[in-house]
Amino acid sequence: MTVPAFPREKQPAGTPSQGGVAYPPHNEGSAISAAALLAELQTHEIGRALRVLEQTTSTVDAAREWLNQGAPNGAVVIAQRQTQGRGRLGRSWASPAGGLWLTVILRPHWDVGAVGLLGLATALAAAEAVEKETGARIQLRWPNDLMLGGRKVGGVLIETELDGRIVAAALVSIGVNVNFALGELPEEARGSATTVLEATGKLHPLPQLATRLLETLEGGLGAVTDDPQALQTLWRARDALRGKQVCVEVAGKMLRGRAAGVDRQGRLLLATSLLGRTALATGEVTLVREEGREGPQVRAE
Ligand code: BTN
Repeated sequence: MTVPAFPREKQPAGTPSQGGVAYPPHNEGSAISAAALLAELQTHEIGRALRVLEQTTSTVDAAREWLNQGAPNGAVVIAQRQTQGRGRLGRSWASPAGGLWLTVILRPHWDVGAVGLLGLATALAAAEAVEKETGARIQLRWPNDLMLGGRKVGGVLIETELDGRIVAAALVSIGVNVNFALGELPEEARGSATTVLEATGKLHPLPQLATRLLETLEGGLGAVTDDPQALQTLWRARDALRGKQVCVEVAGKMLRGRAAGVDRQGRLLLATSLLGRTALATGEVTLVREEGREGPQVRAE
């Protein structure tokens, strides 16, 4: 597609990070400056300590290094591009300039049972932020894929450090394909992925999106321990799988059933003829094509 010009009135205040990425002129609104972001950000902890990198292997690597050096709860690493971005299940994650690539460092001291809900809360915050800032309608595919028009537009990756059952630290990462054309993704991803630019035909300022996402996430994190039911309800409103026939691969075995939402621990509820209703904490979901129903066979990563 032809990349449109960035709307003048939407260009961010401030300057790109020092020696910033050489964005093509049409994409200059994608540059994020730490100073400009901090000037706008209305949070107590999330993003108050902030590093914006022009390029890194992965924000997860940069965040882990910072964590080991004593980063405070809520510290955030944002990269303009990643050279070795990674996704769930050991997959690689293409991360060209124009995407939102970030990791939040948490020291939550929650029971490990809360990690499923942390993933849901993070995906919900990202969905809400993307929708509010770009107008693109975002659905969620369990466990935490952001979907736009039936295609994957973003994802969440959570890595934890446990002290027994206590989550001593969590690296909560979000990736959203925003201001770049589909052609910048590897060929094998193009059939099932999209970008906000591709779907809306417009560029959207990344600094505002990052700010909104961090603010929304701070609110959502409270709900992980205080109000799981609220997360369950919000998930229901965006659930891309609910009522659909799916296959879930769990530990090498295939389970087939109808997706029936998520429980208060963030597990996928599956209504199966064999086991009745069952709750799954992990797994890889594939939508089953049904007679008379539209939509491609889609793999959830
Ligand atoms: C998924 O597989 O759906 C999760 C994708 C997570 C991508 C983000 S981008 C920021 C952070 N750095 C990475 O290398 N991965 C995550």
